[in-house]
Amino acid sequence: MATERTLSIIKPDATRRNLTGAINERFEIRGLKIVAQKRIHLTLGQAQKFYQIHKERAFYDDLCKYMTSGPVVVQVLEGEQAITENRSIMGATNPANADEGTIRKDFGESVEANSVHGSDSPENAAIEISFFFADIDIVI
Ligand code: CMP
Repeated sequence: MATERTLSIIKPDATRRNLTGAINERFEIRGLKIVAQKRIHLTLGQAQKFYQIHKERAFYDDLCKYMTSGPVVVQVLEGEQAITENRSIMGATNPANADEGTIRKDFGESVEANSVHGSDSPENAAIEISFFFADIDIVI
């Protein structure tokens, strides 16, 4: 087992409903530690750059617009196998397909407004963490 870090985003639908604490509790209860966190309002340019991996997808423009529709909380989670652990805590991308007890099942509104984002691989976690945080911002 390896200690990993992953990038998490609490999305505008969740900040709008004041769910930051409820979502953070899900991470902490499962042993993930929030080692960096900030609340920001993404610009359209930042959202487009962050999601550039999806730029050929039909949902890209709407996704970028949605991610700028309100504040988000970006955070670094650390723990044993944090990347896969966080994806298990979040549940499937589409809340309609997510397992009971996951964040997206309990809080997600739609495939777009699905409350949270989490890195999908160690390579993307490193890229995504450095998109928002410098090493000095991460406190263990
Ligand atoms: P996220 O983990 O942030 O990564 C890309 C996001 O695109 C995804 O969560 C969804 O919220 C969003 N999205 C919007 N429409 C779709 C779709 N049809 N299929 C997959 N992801 C979608």
